[in-house]
Parts: sequence; structure tokens; C-alpha cells
Amino acid sequence: MEDPFEASAAAYLRQQAEIYGMELPLDGKLLKNPPSNGNKATSKDLESFYNEIKECQLCPLGTTRTKFVFGVGNPNADLMLIGEAPGRNEDLQGEPFVGRAGQLLDKILAAIKLSREEVYIANVLKCRPPNNRDPLKSESDTCQPYLKQQIELIKPKLILALGRVSGAWLLGEDLALKDMRNKSYIYNGIEMMVTYHPAALLRNPNWKRPCWEDMQKVRDRILALTQPQGLV
Ligand code: URA
Repeated sequence: MEDPFEASAAAYLRQQAEIYGMELPLDGKLLKNPPSNGNKATSKDLESFYNEIKECQLCPLGTTRTKFVFGVGNPNADLMLIGEAPGRNEDLQGEPFVGRAGQLLDKILAAIKLSREEVYIANVLKCRPPNNRDPLKSESDTCQPYLKQQIELIKPKLILALGRVSGAWLLGEDLALKDMRNKSYIYNGIEMMVTYHPAALLRNPNWKRPCWEDMQKVRDRILALTQPQGLV
């Protein structure tokens, strides 16, 4: 069966290569809209916030982590993706979604013509739970102000929660993924949608098709939300 992300990402990369006359590898950097300023956060704002919190010891994960995984991407991003918690690779490298799930996430983004440099990616938890267990409520409650502050600085137009844990945490309700998909929510005044976690797609590739349908809606919403007012 054709992989919808492979097909769309490959078409996008071919188009980029035609336009720019160069080969772009699938994991290449596809920076189209470098961070501009506006009245949103600058990388300095995020960096000083990172420096404030990077030594956090407010929960026991502070003692078991290798690296604090703050977040990565464009401080002016229109789209902010929120995963669950760092895994082994993320803990070692200090960057979200750099393992197998992250490589798939890059393809998912490329399929809607975005790169990880254009969006912002963060997690509910900044530190890895031992053996990748689900975050405890006490841990996500303790970490909550950090993600909230990041969202406030970045002011994305759309938040995309990746997976049940992230969606349920942002909505403050213990809902199943199937009940959160295909809906739009508002999180602190910002539009929010929920789709599959890329690790779930690695476990069950049959979910790639419905995830691709979600991503087309995400792409349409970003286009609508970033369209200059007054244009129809
Ligand atoms: N899974 C997540 O939810 N976040 C990561 O950063 C990596 C894997």
C-alpha cells in the first residue's frame, strides 16, 4: 500500500528541486520562511526562558534525565506541535522528536510542505520518564507552566497535539484519541487540533491514512488562519 506521507513528501521535494534546481534529501533542511519578527517571541525570549528553566529539579525526572528537552523550531511559528515526552534519543540529544518517530514526523510535515525549522516542536514533559512510561499526573502538572509559557511566547495560530496523552493534557480531559480527532478546540484562545502520535503510526501503519487526512485539514486551517484579512 502506498504511504501517503512518502508520496506527498517526495512530490514536494521534487517540486522544490525543480524550483531551486537542486537535490534536497528527504531529511534536508527546507527552510522557506525564515523567522521574521512581528510582535511575537524572538529566539532571545525563548533562549532566556530556556536558560531560566534548564536546570529544573521540580520533579524526580530532573535527577534521571540526561538532557532537558526544551523545544525546537521557529519562535514565530504559525503551527506548534506538542508531543508527550522525550524518549531515549531526545534525552541524549536534548531535542524533541529526533528518533524514528521524529523522522516520520519530518516526513509528515514535508507532506504538507513544512519543515521542522518552520514550525515549533515541544513536549508536555521536558524530561524523559524512565523506560518511556506515560507521564505521571504529578509530573505533567509540575511541568505545565513551562509549556504554557512557551505557547504564550510563540503565539502560534494553530496547536497540533500529537497523540492521546498530549491532546488530553491540553484539553484537561481524559478523552480517547478517536474522540479528539476531527474536531477543533480552543486552547487559551488558540485553535487546536489532535492527531496520531508518530510512534503510534510506526506501530500501526494503517493509521497513516487517517493521519494524512488530519494533516490535510491542518494545512487548510493554517492557510485560512494566515490568510491576510479581507481576502476571500
Ligand atoms: N515522543 C514524544 O512524544 N516526544 C518526543 O520528543 C519524542 C518521542
